[in-house]
Amino acid sequence: MNSAPSPHDGGTPLAPTRPLLARTVAELRTLSARLLEEGAVGGTPRRLALVPTMGALHEGHGHLVRAARAANDVVVVSVFVNPLQFDDPADYDRYPRTLDADLELLDDAGADIVFAPEESEVYPDGPPLVRLSSGKLGEKFEGASRPGHFDGMLAVVAQLLHHAGPPPLAPVPVEYSAYFGQKDAQQLAIVRRMVADLAYPVRIHAVPIVRSPEGLALSSRNRFLSPEQAEAALVLSRALFLLRDRAQAHEPLMVDDAEALIASQPLVDLDYLEVVDPDTLEPLAFNCRETPFTGTALVLVAARVGNVRLIDNMPLGDS
Ligand code: PAF
Repeated sequence: MNSAPSPHDGGTPLAPTRPLLARTVAELRTLSARLLEEGAVGGTPRRLALVPTMGALHEGHGHLVRAARAANDVVVVSVFVNPLQFDDPADYDRYPRTLDADLELLDDAGADIVFAPEESEVYPDGPPLVRLSSGKLGEKFEGASRPGHFDGMLAVVAQLLHHAGPPPLAPVPVEYSAYFGQKDAQQLAIVRRMVADLAYPVRIHAVPIVRSPEGLALSSRNRFLSPEQAEAALVLSRALFLLRDRAQAHEPLMVDDAEALIASQPLVDLDYLEVVDPDTLEPLAFNCRETPFTGTALVLVAARVGNVRLIDNMPLGDS
């Protein structure tokens, strides 16, 4: 798979091998412009999508790419382990780099181009001096235990959205979208806010969480759970399903019941369970016994199971 042709291979034909591998921004733009041009009909806009990832891909990512594939003409997937979003350098070093396996999964899921740059391509002058701030949205929940994580995430997402967007010499009009997993709900809310606040010309799509048949949200961290811990971790999704069912029935959520359910599982150490506004992530006061649920909300949950920190969430209402 690493033998995917690059535009600098001296005229190697671009088709039919997929996905094409771009190591530099220049290669990415050349490939993207060519694929946008191939199959263009008159002035009909072509649909271009970016799916940003850090590699070590699992079926949850496959689902994201398939969602992008189903609605777009050209699908770019970035694979870049971004050092700026790791608060612990040892975690960054340990993060699995599995490009060959990733390319196979991406081929299967229908990606057209994989943008897998070196760090020197993304941060040619070293860590950027000017940083984006995720502000209040990035300080709470996951941000509270990983200071700087969301600012570092924004630093790379802002660049990736720019690099993978319609190439400057795009031969046709382009409609540009980017796909993020609902699993990282706080990241999604922060990216949406950045795109709105900085007027990025891209539509952000959220792709629903993929769960095991038992309900566990798919995550690359699940591989570190023992079978007993994986079983115990199911209490998180059970708590979310309980709240979803009450919301659907327009009953009071009674969040205490969900907390008590999680507390009943000794292997699970709850960090937070909060019902928030999906856009601002501000807590909502739905925990009252008398008030039936209406409107939209998002339940966020995080817990430690052994040494593994798990997050999960559930949109409620029409959110
Ligand atoms: O969700 C991720 O994998 C990463 O945070 C992202 C969006 C690819 C940025 O590095």
